[in-house]
Amino acid sequence: MLKDIPFQFSGLQYHVRFEAILTSILGGPALTYASGLAAFHAVLVLLNSRRIAIGEGYHGCNGVISMVSRMTGLKNLPLDCDAAELQPGDIIHVETPLNPTREAIDLQYYADKAHKMRAFLIVDATFGPPPLQNPFDFGADIVLHSGTKYFGEQSDMLCGILAAKPQHDFLMKLYSDRVYLGSVAGNTESWLGTCMSLRTLELRVIRQSATATALVSWFHSQLHDPSTAVHELAQEVHHASLQTEAKEDGSCKLRLFQHATSLGGVESLMEWRAMTNTSIDQRLVRLSIGVEALEDLARDLQQD
Ligand SMILES: *Cc1c(COP(=O)(O)O)cnc(C)c1O
Ligand SMILES: *[C@@H]1O[C@H](CO)[C@@H](O)[C@H](O)[C@H]1NC(C)=O
Repeated sequence: MLKDIPFQFSGLQYHVRFEAILTSILGGPALTYASGLAAFHAVLVLLNSRRIAIGEGYHGCNGVISMVSRMTGLKNLPLDCDAAELQPGDIIHVETPLNPTREAIDLQYYADKAHKMRAFLIVDATFGPPPLQNPFDFGADIVLHSGTKYFGEQSDMLCGILAAKPQHDFLMKLYSDRVYLGSVAGNTESWLGTCMSLRTLELRVIRQSATATALVSWFHSQLHDPSTAVHELAQEVHHASLQTEAKEDGSCKLRLFQHATSLGGVESLMEWRAMTNTSIDQRLVRLSIGVEALEDLARDLQQD
């Protein structure tokens, strides 16, 4: 399929290579964009839906929706709306694991709800990159990643990725729309992606996920031990590994965890969300686990 795509400029060959590898990793024909939000915008342009059912998640996607609705009248519905409120061609947009609480969402439930009405299920899988999950196994029509995060490795590239379910005939339309949207990924990012980031994706993601899960379990045990600082300071720990049900001060002492809004790179990050949005619970801290040693990260969190 990829060989049928005409070369626009010979200098862009890296993104053809990058996309060929992504196609095989993601399990559906993949295209890259200038950013995750540019990829999300391309989905809205492609499907030109009347309604989109969307819940919590990355706030930027709501920004794109409100911009598109100025032009097309696209309407927002709550994620738990009645299936009967959806019509053919509409979208259910699900992010899993969900930002910022890391809960896993039952994709098959939303796929069935969408498909019953001949609507589409779009899955933002940024927080669960390969090899952790494959949303196509649970009925996704289009899978979106902010490649800026786990795919990017060193927190130094901006990129968005779309992969379409192979049975859909979306690729050529996405490809030609992208020419006119002008949201193609930069050649340097495609080179970084092909020659650096993807080569270590599996190693990094498996290590980051294992360390995060171990750290979460350590946190969780401390939470119930009154002699610990975690018990004193924290109220809850959220992570998909702790989930039991399906779900439809600025001064920081941490040395290893840097304060930043991004995630997925090899260096651990923490984000105190109330700093950028005062209506968020002051106690909510989001951690992104890099590839440092578990003991070092635990010590950094435990210090007085
Ligand atoms: C960062 C992020 C995006 C947007 O990606 P950019 O590459 O920053 O435009 C979309 N969805 C989720 C879940 C994200 O974390
Ligand atoms: C701030 O947080 C509130 C509550 O979660 C949310 O409704 C709102 O959209 C957020 N604002 C921004 C700019 O993210």
